[in-house]
Amino acid sequence: MSLLKQAREVRENAYAPYSKFKVGAAVRGASGAVYRGVNVENVAYPEGTCAEAGAIAAMVAAGETELIAVAVIADSPSPVPPCGGCRQKLAEFGRADTPVILATTDGAQLETTIGELLPGRFDASHMDKC
Ligand code: THU
Repeated sequence: MSLLKQAREVRENAYAPYSKFKVGAAVRGASGAVYRGVNVENVAYPEGTCAEAGAIAAMVAAGETELIAVAVIADSPSPVPPCGGCRQKLAEFGRADTPVILATTDGAQLETTIGELLPGRFDASHMDKC
């Protein structure tokens, strides 16, 4: 099953009773395995987590720390862009040229990369003087 199809499928399980905005994400680890995540909201709104964060957490829990592809899908008018925090989270485990597919449930797709989503990322080299 394609990465995008995996994201579409898992999106059904999103827990989004407050925003009603269900998001599904799937990441492929360097091993080839796919890890899936959904947004999980909370009545204390800031405690909610994004779909991308869930997929990354599943990957790391499985023992992988490198992702080679990402897919995110939601029922939005245009392909949903990951939030700023998720861009930094994706950058932690991917490379600038790692492909990212953003999609709508209606079939619109945007192909981009982690580097395009987060130019000028903060990375470990910025702490070299410490
Ligand atoms: N959301 C994600 O899961 N990923 C994103 O990249 C954007 C936003 C979720 C968080 C919240 O549950 C809902 O979408 C509305 O912001």
